[in-house]
Amino acid sequence: MSRNDNNRTTTDSGMPVSSDEHSLTVGRDGPILLHDLYLIEQMANFNRERIPERQPHAKGSGAFGHFKVTHDVSQFTKAAVFQPGTETETLMRFSSVAGERGSPDTWRDPRGFSIKFYTSEGNYDMVGNNTPVFFIRDPLKFQHFIRSQKRRADNGMRDHDMQWDFWTLSPESAHQVTWLMGDRGIPKTWRNMNGYSSHTYLWVNDKGEKFWVKYHFKTNQGIDFLTQDDADMLAGKDGDYHRRDLFNAIKEGNNPSWTMKVQIMPFEEAKTYRLNPFDLTKVWPHEDYPLHEVGQLTLNRNPTDFHTEIEQAAFEPSNLVPGIGISPDKMLLGRMFSYADAHRHRLGVNYKQIPVNSPKCPVNSYSKDGAMRVQNVTDPVYAPNSKGGPKADPENYPEDTTWAASGEFTREAYTLREDDDDFGQAGILVREVMDDAQRDRLVSNVVGHVSDGVEEPVLSRVIEYWKNIDGDIGERIAKGLGKA
Ligand code: NDP
Ligand code: HEM
Repeated sequence: MSRNDNNRTTTDSGMPVSSDEHSLTVGRDGPILLHDLYLIEQMANFNRERIPERQPHAKGSGAFGHFKVTHDVSQFTKAAVFQPGTETETLMRFSSVAGERGSPDTWRDPRGFSIKFYTSEGNYDMVGNNTPVFFIRDPLKFQHFIRSQKRRADNGMRDHDMQWDFWTLSPESAHQVTWLMGDRGIPKTWRNMNGYSSHTYLWVNDKGEKFWVKYHFKTNQGIDFLTQDDADMLAGKDGDYHRRDLFNAIKEGNNPSWTMKVQIMPFEEAKTYRLNPFDLTKVWPHEDYPLHEVGQLTLNRNPTDFHTEIEQAAFEPSNLVPGIGISPDKMLLGRMFSYADAHRHRLGVNYKQIPVNSPKCPVNSYSKDGAMRVQNVTDPVYAPNSKGGPKADPENYPEDTTWAASGEFTREAYTLREDDDDFGQAGILVREVMDDAQRDRLVSNVVGHVSDGVEEPVLSRVIEYWKNIDGDIGERIAKGLGKA
């Protein structure tokens, strides 16, 4: 709602009101009248101010900006948004995963890294995290995973025993848990972290050639982190520490930016690569698939209304554009359903008409009516028709980014390849990427976390889990827990 020109208070229907402070009563000291429409409207609207929070990723914030393509990747994708020199308006939202809408920004957790590109061919959403991998590889486990990270049924409290119970019974979590317990598990600010698609996507060029890709958004501010002690202190002192940092940086003109790069795998190589390139718990080692630069993402405009522009923002991995498709990653396939369903519940069926979610290109869909539909629908309202309505284009639509599949229906894990063990890349991260100081902090973070409520039989499994990741680190954690 905007203020009117004379800045005179009105009701929501524009009727001037005579007092900002006093209800309508029978005499100065008498009862309130039911026809005090302004009082009733204020009470009624207030009672309806809260919409459901996002199930995961409830706490976050964001800003607007643009993405500029600086390097030519047109040989890999025909997507308009990634053609040389193209500049596209964007919205970004950063978030933590497990905490509620008012939870502290500095709890140890992965961070969401969502980008909406308002492209000339429709909205393209890259809904990633600040980590290149994830805890699980099958969407059937996602709901259980998130519940284990949130709150118990009995006392409504978070519970580290529940977290480690799930993790140690799900060994595919080892890589992401190692990452989470390391320095990057609590970024200093959202500006000081990278973003990753994590999933593999499919790019198609204008000749119809296909490539598998993973996106990396490298922070131009440098990676930085908070120690557990500093994060704990900030959680008490300033729960909105990350939200405040982003808002103030942009307000001061200190606009954060990220360099977008991609790893590219030729389509056929996916069939024989030594690890399943669609398994979300694994990275593609840089030495096999180096990074190709694509462009610069910059944030330069704060929201002016948090609710309409950030809380009502609806990101969904299923917002795709010609030239970009999905891969056989089962998690990504699960996400194709989940987000639009969440938005219909959280925001209503016509959530794409909320300005922040509206494409900035023509929309010619046949969707009609429903709650809160505000854009006019014109005839004809059905297809096929002979009345000049829009016609589908069989040559140019995102689903043409396909791959072949066959087999009996089954409920089984991916077929294992040579390097598909759960602990291998986690061990590489500990031994080859972290230095001594980082390993010391990793041990201390795990010991601190587990000491806070983890009991047998989970405790013994935690030690075994870490010994599987790395023998030495496992011993040190066991010693720290008094179980050497
Ligand atoms: P590289 O040595 O080429 O890459 C290691 C990468 O690890 C770095 O480029 C950096 O990613 C990231 N990294 C550095 N410090 C940390 C940390 N404390 N916590 C988490 N990540 C960190 O090796 P590989 O590509 O062969 O990968 C080795 C391991 O590195 C993997 O097992 C994985 O755990 C981790 N990694 C790999 C990434 C990849 O895409 N290959 C991406 C991120 C992590 P960045 O440059 O993106 O900041
Ligand atoms: C938010 C589901 C995996 C990143 C959400 C939401 C749901 C959801 C329901 C809330 C949406 C809303 O109400 O607006 C799932 C399911 C997953 C999955 C079912 C797996 C099967 C992932 C993965 C990533 C991710 C692997 C990162 C690579 C995000 C982000 C948000 C989010 C960043 C917040 C979006 C925003 O900023 O509004 N997810 N998720 N999710 N998810 Fe996932």
